[in-house]
Amino acid sequence: MLDMRISRRAAVIGASAAAAWLASPARALIQAAGNLSTPGFVDDLIARMTLEEKAGQLSLMASAWGGGVAASLNPPTQGSSFPQQVEEARQGQLTGVFNGNGARMARILQTAAVKNSRLKVPLIFAADIIHGHRTIFPVPLAEVASFEPDLARRTAAAAAFEAAGAGIDWTFSPMVDVARDQRWGRGVEGGGEDVLLGRLFAAARVRGFQGDNLKGSDRMLACIKHFAAYGGAEAGLDYNTVDMSERTLREVYLQPYKAGFDAGALSAMASFNEISGVPSTGNHWLMTDLLRGEWGFQGFVVSDYTGDEEMILHGYAKDGRDAARLALLAGVDMSMQSGLYRKYLPDLVRSGDVPQAQLDLSVRRVLAMKAMLGLFEDPFRRIDEKREQARSMLPVNRALAREAGRKAIVLLKNDGDLLPLPRSGKKIALIGPFASGQHDLVGPWCVYGDDAKAIDLASGVRAALTDKSSLIVAAGSGVEEPLAGGIDAAVAAARRADIVVLAIGESQGMSGEAQSRTEIIVPEPQQQLAEAVAAVGKPVVVILKHGRALALEGAVANAQAILATWFLGTETGNAIADVLFGAYGPSGRLPASFPRASGQQPYYYAHKPTGRPNPAGPLEAYKAHFRGIPNSALYPFGHGLNYGKIEYGDLALGSPTLSMTGELRVSARVTNRGSRAADEVVQLYVHDRTASITRPVRELKAFRKIALAPGQSEIVGFKITASDLQFIGRDNRPTVEAGTFDVWIAPSAESEGLHGNFELVA
Ligand code: NOJ
Repeated sequence: MLDMRISRRAAVIGASAAAAWLASPARALIQAAGNLSTPGFVDDLIARMTLEEKAGQLSLMASAWGGGVAASLNPPTQGSSFPQQVEEARQGQLTGVFNGNGARMARILQTAAVKNSRLKVPLIFAADIIHGHRTIFPVPLAEVASFEPDLARRTAAAAAFEAAGAGIDWTFSPMVDVARDQRWGRGVEGGGEDVLLGRLFAAARVRGFQGDNLKGSDRMLACIKHFAAYGGAEAGLDYNTVDMSERTLREVYLQPYKAGFDAGALSAMASFNEISGVPSTGNHWLMTDLLRGEWGFQGFVVSDYTGDEEMILHGYAKDGRDAARLALLAGVDMSMQSGLYRKYLPDLVRSGDVPQAQLDLSVRRVLAMKAMLGLFEDPFRRIDEKREQARSMLPVNRALAREAGRKAIVLLKNDGDLLPLPRSGKKIALIGPFASGQHDLVGPWCVYGDDAKAIDLASGVRAALTDKSSLIVAAGSGVEEPLAGGIDAAVAAARRADIVVLAIGESQGMSGEAQSRTEIIVPEPQQQLAEAVAAVGKPVVVILKHGRALALEGAVANAQAILATWFLGTETGNAIADVLFGAYGPSGRLPASFPRASGQQPYYYAHKPTGRPNPAGPLEAYKAHFRGIPNSALYPFGHGLNYGKIEYGDLALGSPTLSMTGELRVSARVTNRGSRAADEVVQLYVHDRTASITRPVRELKAFRKIALAPGQSEIVGFKITASDLQFIGRDNRPTVEAGTFDVWIAPSAESEGLHGNFELVA
């Protein structure tokens, strides 16, 4: 007998899931941001500052502590030594440093600033806290696979707890660049290809980092980056040109930034790229007209690392002086790493090339933020060496890392229900360069994370097995180079085993900044390993390591089971073992489509239709597809299996029509006919059949993650309003047009699911 009940949660949260998030407690911060009142003492201070001191408040440098480890995360530049930075703090030439190491460093610099400088303005300490501080959570893209924004809020809050405990006031995160080309390496830091997910996770992360009180010693200022459209780089080549219509910019790329600001983020980082001919760092329309004028942003903007100086090589600024002028006048308040502001701004003001008022405005924004962070009241509020230790890698945070890790895993394929594996009675050969060892666990963009403190795959698997001796481990191959004798040893291991678990894919250095790839495939030596091992004929489970969606081929694509496991951080091995052996049923869904071939890039589900689409089925001549393959995904956005057997039925629309002010209920019955509990992410997509601007074939408008016991059935309901059907019209303004809309409730962006339609009536 099926247990049928209407989910109360599912019924109340409809297509306005985004609205629900954006009307969260973060509203308090937004409102604060809306009327950021600058304390009077800030203006008094500005009145007493020299031009050099003002320029100093706008100059942020990589920490030189420990011989400049921080700077090594970015291209080398000629910077000061740490003793020189202490002197700069005394002289008021520095607003703060970033990626420095710990409270001890911060105490030395802060003491120089607030005890020994003329005006005693506190420094701000920043860092790239992208997916955890000491406890490392899944890379951001992996976390989005949870389809659970609140998980991201919780991991961001945990990261803030550790990092703010170690002297960090400000994180260069979240990165919310929409990434629709998987060749681009930095998609790993963001929210994937979809606008709705991008918005929800941007807002959630801001809420997690900032909470509702920026003065808290367990909170940090968030920084929305990289503003704007950094993910739109041509050919997915990092730093490359972005050339797109204002409509696409507004409808797709700008959305997650806006959601982050609406959630209360009070800083932003300019992107390296140009947009349609103008580098973001010098783009007045972007940084001032749109960001502050149209959106009402009240915080401050920092350049990316030497981004102002790079306008010279872009061919936009004549020289360093010109670059500093263009950036400040555009609305970039703070310069990161180039030193151009402190070098040129005083003279630019003296010569009249930059109005004094413009300089004061930027200084005011920066000082107001330092005040909001509580730094004038207590410059040492986040600097406490004992607390730094006490908060590091607490069991509660490791437990959260394990929870996040298992929720990020996506089961792409499970032929013959090979998974979950039994804990005893079978010999398992764990093969591949990622089978064991303290490497490639924490993932890209970790300043303070440590692979040595993370659980590797073999340890996690061994811990889950009843008989530890039933595990054979063999590397088989290097990541990008073959291993001498590796394939022979791996084949021998496979022969001795009942099941092969193949841990292959990308190393963590293959995604991240400046790590664009032309072919998004499993590297050749590993592909050969997979072919050889598959030829043994044992059942194969592939465990993919990756910082992007991959194009799977041959024995990898043909394995009986495939788990997408990304980079999961500190609890990698345990999280994967939880899913592998069924302690946790997989619940993740792809935040980026896995294409059939690299050459399809950029591929994303919400593409436009074309006049010659190839209908599902055989390839037809003169239709839109590449030679030999349909232009669809192998595993589309939203795809992910679980250990149940899920059935969708009984699509119901509350009415055949929706008025401009009304709401339409759309629901379906979702049933688990399997014998295991399952989490299902039920997704609602729409398509506007005819409009004055062509519309994507499908767009995700809402989703619900539900837990279904064996035999359980649940009615999942969504509400659609006209605002969910809005798009950017011919005049680049939001518009809603009456007409016929398709609607699907489906388990992924390209599955048939349940299909209906309705009329939006004027
Ligand atoms: C350059 C990267 O683009 C940015 O994301 C990062 O925050 C800065 N470097 C500082 O490390």
